[in-house]
Amino acid sequence: MGVTAAWGRVTNILAIAKHVIKNYMQTTELVRFKKLDKQITVLTAWDAISSSIVEAAGADVVLVGDSLGMVVLGHATTLPVTLDQMLHHTQAVCRGFCKPLSKQPLVVCDLPFLSYQCGEDKAVEAAGTLLKNSSASAVKLEGAEPETLLVIKRLIRMGIPVMGHLGLTPQSVHQLGYKSQARDKKSQEKIFKDSKMLQESGCFAIVLEHIPGEIASRLKKDLDIPVIGIGAGSDCDGQVRVTADILGLSTEQPPFAKPLLAGRELCINALREWVKSNNLNQVNPTIKTSESKLDC
Ligand code: KIV
Repeated sequence: MGVTAAWGRVTNILAIAKHVIKNYMQTTELVRFKKLDKQITVLTAWDAISSSIVEAAGADVVLVGDSLGMVVLGHATTLPVTLDQMLHHTQAVCRGFCKPLSKQPLVVCDLPFLSYQCGEDKAVEAAGTLLKNSSASAVKLEGAEPETLLVIKRLIRMGIPVMGHLGLTPQSVHQLGYKSQARDKKSQEKIFKDSKMLQESGCFAIVLEHIPGEIASRLKKDLDIPVIGIGAGSDCDGQVRVTADILGLSTEQPPFAKPLLAGRELCINALREWVKSNNLNQVNPTIKTSESKLDC
């Protein structure tokens, strides 16, 4: 092949790649949403059923949060969640989408406890494993301690987009509890400083959980990157919710996530009906043997 033909082929491939990538929901799109004042919606998913529902509902971002440890694995905290479990659930979430890849929501996956606190190399391996083996495009991690900032910078240098998470950070439950955060002046100053450090370190967005609305509102104005709130008032660039909370499926609802549906009650009532009718031995639909092929 001549040089001109080869070059033509290369530019064609680049044009196609650019077209494909441009049509994907990317992390940079969220910054554009902020500039356009368009609210960003983030919902969690943990398996194929929940991701197909969340996708159909039109969420911009699907978060495979480590809250799955509590919501679906029955743990008391998020701490026991492993990297293998995060990968297993992220893959199920990605398989559950019905739309073509280019129309699917952006998938962000939580880095579980101890997958990024033990050094940069371990963090790159953990985040890389999630992105390599699923269609997730970014990871989320908690805090802004100096070691965490180094990890964030390294991940970003390695091409892995990072979402930050401040305020109530469930992986620090044994230090912070599940209480609202940033209530006194000192911790408010810390959250302002930490948010700026996360932005400077290259995070594409920050989740602010269970903090006063005025703090989130000021950070929304101060930061160039989107501020995604949960229990942080309504003046944010977007909101994130644990889907099981919104659907009223959780046994313990956090105070800031009001259910939009009495999901547990609806499910229990429907299943009770089924159990009752089955116990009464009511007709179960089936096909007759003449219509089926019974070979044995
Ligand atoms: O794990 C999770 O679901 C989260 C959200 C609460 C933001 O981190």
